[in-house]
Amino acid sequence: MAIIAPSFLASDFLRLAEECNMVNSSGAQWLHLDIMDGHFVPNISFGLPVVAAIRSATSKVCDVHLMIEEPGIYAEAFRNAGADNLCVHIEACPHLHRNIQQIKSLGMKAGVAVNPHTPVGLLSDILHEVDLVNLMSVNPGFGGQQFIPFTLRKIQQLRTMIDERNLNVLIEIDGGVTLNNAAEIIAAGADVLVVGTTVFKAKDPVDVIAQLQKL
Ligand code: DX5
Ligand code: ZN
Repeated sequence: MAIIAPSFLASDFLRLAEECNMVNSSGAQWLHLDIMDGHFVPNISFGLPVVAAIRSATSKVCDVHLMIEEPGIYAEAFRNAGADNLCVHIEACPHLHRNIQQIKSLGMKAGVAVNPHTPVGLLSDILHEVDLVNLMSVNPGFGGQQFIPFTLRKIQQLRTMIDERNLNVLIEIDGGVTLNNAAEIIAAGADVLVVGTTVFKAKDPVDVIAQLQKL
């Protein structure tokens, strides 16, 4: 069964407490929080106080996806805000190994996110150091986009890299996941599905999460 991580980017920000209650009452194991700085991606989302507020309302695994430049400056602040997993973009980190060591030394799980055009082969030398790879299946910055089909092949490539070396690294897919494509994504080798629009814009989000978990 895949881990489902509802992405609060698609939630109703006027009703955050109720959205947290919805996730709490669902079978979702994680929740996903998208941080954007207006530089690494052409959008700004929300920041530390919102992460801390959501964290205080749920005990689900808090999976924070940093779409920001110089993430190392903020890693400790996100740990203090309650992040369990902290994911940085390979494209934003010229010293990725240092970022990963920092995240782990702060007591969090270390994730690396890769944009759709970034080859998974670039992760080869660092893979044994990371806990989680976030394979972006849309160009980061916005919710509600269409899944980019060629990223399915990247899931399979990464699955093979991980399995051949018997590593304990989770593959997370982020962007455009729907009830129609989730089975194919899981079959390709994904462990974690980030789901924004499909969950939060549904009439019955708890039921959508349950349906995703049956796949
Ligand atoms: C996009 C974010 C995603 C986004 C997914 O930059 O990283 O986590 O919230 O939203 P949907 O599921 O609507 O594509
Ligand atoms: Zn994300």
